[in-house]
Amino acid sequence: MAKAICPGSFDPVTRGHIDIIARASGLFDEVVALVVVNPVKVPCFTAVERAAMLRRSVAHLPNVSVDIYQGLLANYVRQVGAVGIVKGLRAMSDFEYEFQMTLTNHKLLPQAETIFLSSTVDNLYLSSSLVKQVAQYQGSIVDFVPPEVLPDIEQRLGCRSPTSIAR
Ligand code: PNS
Repeated sequence: MAKAICPGSFDPVTRGHIDIIARASGLFDEVVALVVVNPVKVPCFTAVERAAMLRRSVAHLPNVSVDIYQGLLANYVRQVGAVGIVKGLRAMSDFEYEFQMTLTNHKLLPQAETIFLSSTVDNLYLSSSLVKQVAQYQGSIVDFVPPEVLPDIEQRLGCRSPTSIAR
C-alpha cells in the first residue's frame, strides 16, 4: 500500500489544493492531506478548523484522509510509513523554495520522494493568501474555494470591514 502525504498550511483550502490532492489520490493507494502547524505564522483559521474544512472538501475521495501535525514533515512521513510527498507547483517562482524543501526533506529522509504536480491552468494564479485578500474586501471567492467550505470562509472573512487607513 503506497501512501503519500500532501502537506500544507491550507489556510484556507483552495480549489488548487483539492486538484493536487485528487490527482495524488489517483497515483497512490492512500493519501493524507496534512495540515502542518507553523508556530511562527498567525493563521486565519485554527488547525482544527482548517482540517475540518479540508475533510469536507475531500469527502468524495475515498482513499484520502486528513491529519494535523506540528513538527518536521520528514518525521511525520517516517512515522506513518509514507513513500511520497506530493506538492503542487504553480509557477517557476514556487520552484526555488520548493526545491530547497525537497532537498532538506531528502537529506532527512532519503527513502521518501517528493513529487511535483503542476497546477492546472485554471489554478495557476490561486493561493490561500489571494483568497483571504479577496474575501476580506467582499470580493467573490466562489471560483477559488471548494463549495463545501465557501460559507465558512465568507463568514470568517467576508463580513470583515476593511480596516481604516486613517491614522
Ligand atoms: O502551504 P504551505 O505554507 O506552502 O506549506 C508549507 C509546508 C507546511 C509544507 C512546509 O512549511 C513544511 O513542510 N513545514 C514543516 C516543517 C519542516 O519539515 N521543515 C523542514 C523542511 S523544509
